[in-house]
Amino acid sequence: MSQKVLVTAGALGIGREIVRAFVAAGAQVAVCDIDESGLETLRSECPGVVTLVCDVGQRDAVERMVPAAVAALGGLDVLVNNAGIGGPTAAVEQFPPADWDRVLQVNLTGTFDVTRLAIPHLKQSAAGSIIVMSSAAGRFGYPNRSAYSASKWALVGFAKTLAIELGQFGIRANALLPGAVDGERLHRVYAGRAQASGQALEAVLADAMASQSLKRFVDPADIAAMVLFLTSEAGKSISGQMLCIDNDIQKA
Ligand SMILES: NC(=O)c1ccc[n+]([C@@H]2O[C@H](COP(=O)([O-])OP(=O)(O)OC[C@H]3O[C@@H](n4cnc5c(N)ncnc54)[C@H](O)[C@@H]3O)[C@@H](O)[C@H]2O)c1
Repeated sequence: MSQKVLVTAGALGIGREIVRAFVAAGAQVAVCDIDESGLETLRSECPGVVTLVCDVGQRDAVERMVPAAVAALGGLDVLVNNAGIGGPTAAVEQFPPADWDRVLQVNLTGTFDVTRLAIPHLKQSAAGSIIVMSSAAGRFGYPNRSAYSASKWALVGFAKTLAIELGQFGIRANALLPGAVDGERLHRVYAGRAQASGQALEAVLADAMASQSLKRFVDPADIAAMVLFLTSEAGKSISGQMLCIDNDIQKA
């Protein structure tokens, strides 16, 4: 039986790699995103994928999206909570409170809402599995990205709690903590860092590379490979864990 999978924010970036990997493995996949045209492109690339326009930071939209995705798939085995936004690059005292609220709303509350609505369906699965997308910012401090870092630390606590609550139903939950993943978003982050610090972009990039032991950023396909492993039979004994996919030279 093929897995029935829901991926949030799967039109682009890491989410799209996860969708592609599940499709290649023969899974039935539903994807939500705020980017309607991105979803359209995804549908043309991966025919058969169910797409739903939904902002995971809007509770009423999530309350419509999850049942619609489950109905289209005919059940649910895997939930990948991938949606997450970075918010502005600013010190805490200058951080706009409305941006703080929005980052927490999408990253943390959105993950809570999608998950709470998915749990009754995952309980019907023979091998339910939940992935929560945290970040290296969920184990290190992250200057000028307080809302992002706080939300990603909170998601680790959420994933660990889910694992304990849901283990009795055979459902596993794990948090993924990617490091610097190559792609458009990473370049946005470094541009923001350069602007906030007054450094040249080249200096920011060199600094970022200095903390990479392998001297390259993470391939998004490697995140997708970890998701597939964790949610497969091979990952059946792994729950409540923080899986770091990075090559960061550890620093506080
Ligand atoms: N890129 C990295 O280096 C990195 C590192 C660690 C963790 N992460 C985490 O991985 C996840 C995906 O990151 P990415 O770099 O692929 O993101 P991204 O910025 O490339 O965006 C991916 C998708 O998210 C969608 N999206 C944005 N806000 C949404 C919302 N409110 N509701 C639904 N969809 C929404 C976008 O339309 C886009 O299609 C995030 O949770 C991010 O925090 C990324």
